[in-house]
Amino acid sequence: MFLKFKNIFYIVLTLSIVFNSLLVNSSQLRKAKIIHRNNNANNIKTTNEDFSSSSGSESSGDINPYISQYTSERETLVNQENQIKLGSNTPFNSKEQQANIIFSNILQNEELSFSNTDPSAVNFFLEKQIIENESTVFKIIQNMPKGSALHVHQDSSATYDYLILVGSYLPNCYIYIVNDPNDPNINNNGTFHFYESQPSDNNWKLLSKIRESVTNVEEFDQQLLDSLTLIGEDYGDYITLWRKFDGIFGRVSGLVTYLPIATGYMEHLFEQMIEDGVQHIEVRKCFGDFYDIDGKIYDDYWFVENMEQLVLSTRQKYNMSEFGFKIIGCNGRHSNQTVVYDAMVMSLELRNKYPSTFVGYDLVGPEDEGYPLIYFIDQFAQIKKLGYQYQYPLDYFFHAGETILYNNTNLYDAILLDTKRIGHGIQLPQHPLLMDLVLKNDIAIEICPISNQILQYVSDMRAHPGLDLLNRGLPVTISPDDPAIFNYGGLSYDFFEVTYSWGLNLQQLKQLAINSINHSNTFNQSEYDLLYNAWEVKWFNFIDYIINTYPNI
Ligand SMILES: *[C@@H]1O[C@H](CO)[C@@H](O)[C@H](O)[C@H]1NC(C)=O
Ligand SMILES: *[C@@H]1O[C@H](CO)[C@@H](O)[C@H](O)[C@H]1NC(C)=O
Ligand SMILES: *[C@@H]1O[C@H](CO)[C@@H](O)[C@H](O)[C@H]1NC(C)=O
Ligand SMILES: *[C@@H]1O[C@H](CO)[C@@H](O)[C@H](O)[C@H]1NC(C)=O
Ligand SMILES: *[C@@H]1O[C@H](CO)[C@@H](O)[C@H](O)[C@H]1NC(C)=O
Ligand SMILES: *[C@@H]1O[C@H](CO)[C@@H](O)[C@H](O)[C@H]1NC(C)=O
Ligand SMILES: *[C@@H]1O[C@H](CO)[C@@H](O)[C@H](O)[C@H]1NC(C)=O
Ligand SMILES: [Zn+2]
Repeated sequence: MFLKFKNIFYIVLTLSIVFNSLLVNSSQLRKAKIIHRNNNANNIKTTNEDFSSSSGSESSGDINPYISQYTSERETLVNQENQIKLGSNTPFNSKEQQANIIFSNILQNEELSFSNTDPSAVNFFLEKQIIENESTVFKIIQNMPKGSALHVHQDSSATYDYLILVGSYLPNCYIYIVNDPNDPNINNNGTFHFYESQPSDNNWKLLSKIRESVTNVEEFDQQLLDSLTLIGEDYGDYITLWRKFDGIFGRVSGLVTYLPIATGYMEHLFEQMIEDGVQHIEVRKCFGDFYDIDGKIYDDYWFVENMEQLVLSTRQKYNMSEFGFKIIGCNGRHSNQTVVYDAMVMSLELRNKYPSTFVGYDLVGPEDEGYPLIYFIDQFAQIKKLGYQYQYPLDYFFHAGETILYNNTNLYDAILLDTKRIGHGIQLPQHPLLMDLVLKNDIAIEICPISNQILQYVSDMRAHPGLDLLNRGLPVTISPDDPAIFNYGGLSYDFFEVTYSWGLNLQQLKQLAINSINHSNTFNQSEYDLLYNAWEVKWFNFIDYIINTYPNI
């Protein structure tokens, strides 16, 4: 009874609010009538003819003042809203506008032609070939200079073809084979590792021997490759999916961390990203050693130094002085407090020894299974204190809000711990105050659309929460997360997804690229200027390319 009464009360209240606003605005309308009658509004006369004649109160040929007022209010409303959205204040010259008309026409026509089979609404694995073979928008996006890829995990960053077609052909490559699905070692099935000689566990098989015995080597290699992606998996439930996903990291680890392959894999990443229009990459690298065939161990100091060399040669190779590569150290969020503390101390040291390359710390892995950030509050406090002894304190780049649990608290802690960027932030739209803080503190959001879809946080990209964030003008950026496991390289597929499903125009795409550059860890002003200016030159070449390639659209 009480509830019913309460509802009626609210309905009456709402109605009276609406009614009052109508009253106020009708008086506004009367004022407007006078103004518009004196104006020359001939250009919208035809639209309003029916209204004018049926209302009877206006002299013939005069514009209906209601419509005229409505039209102007409508324009104000649309403009006001557009001004909030990301991209509205991005400088955009007449040439860019010309290219944008072409681009938006292509996008709209293409989306109409796909109709109900909008590729961004279908699971990525099913749509990938359609995107590649049938989409002009995708071709244009491939040519777009994208700025920085800010959220990529090092061991799943470049496609695994290099690991299988080059790496696993090196001598001494073993694969762990379990034939019985009920074997307790089944989780190790398909794991790669290099050993000087046959390990005592006979499940380790020399890969070259197996290759000799198969009839179709190409097919065999393809099977190995498929075992390292989530392709063809029945997507099962969310937890099973994460287990499969984590399993791949385990299987591939003995390849990614093998010294003769490690550098080549990163070279493969640089090539793939550069060809895809990326100027700057920041990887999450979990602490862990590299190894060689003699059993010698190479730690993360080796990795950072080795990468600094590779960056120099890459700049030369591609004549790209702006090319940048930064490393964010990380641990799995299931790690205990001691492990996390020690890793953060090491991060502080790496940060100060290689300040232009090693930039911060993060905790990774499924948020709903590992420890929440608050669990490590003592360690964060200690590291904050320790940081005062160093020139560069430790910056954080936390994954937060990649979750299906409504009691997830990581977004609060990430923001209180002054995270520089937020990985994913899928649950951010549920936190109005946090969204304000993200905007105020200029914290970038690293949206990884394809990852979110494959790992089942978002089913239809058109409903991805990142669109809400974009529409509130938050500094959104686009990243691929673990492209190798999702069976692609580069950043174009993710840009395609959001362009298509959110209906982005070139001005918004430009702002996404600028956001990624502005939230990159450039070491000093000259590094920033180098990156921004090089990107801008490429951007205007891209505008010319659109106008010259699609002149008649
Ligand atoms: C009525 O419309 C005017 C714009 O013409 C607006 O400024 C005002 O806030 C509106 N009044 C109400 C109560 O919504
Ligand atoms: C183990 O992995 C191999 C190679 O990926 C695969 O052919 C085989 O079917 C797997 N064994 C089981 C029991 O699933
Ligand atoms: C390298 O790039 C610069 C612009 O960044 C250009 O002026 C120069 O001609 C390029 N050199 C070569 C060899 O392509
Ligand atoms: C923390 O984890 C490490 C690595 O797994 C282990 O060696 C250590 O004993 C653990 N420490 C505590 C206090 O549980
Ligand atoms: C959220 O709820 C789950 C399920 O009840 C529980 O296991 C978890 O500890 C809770 N997390 C937090 C941060 O309270
Ligand atoms: C990007 O950063 C530069 C300098 O740091 C600043 O001048 C510019 O306004 C920023 N642009 C945007 C769109 O945030
Ligand atoms: C900026 O940093 C780069 C290293 O990334 C260094 O080579 C360069 O000398 C620095 N420039 C200035 C002006 O400090
Ligand atoms: Zn991630």
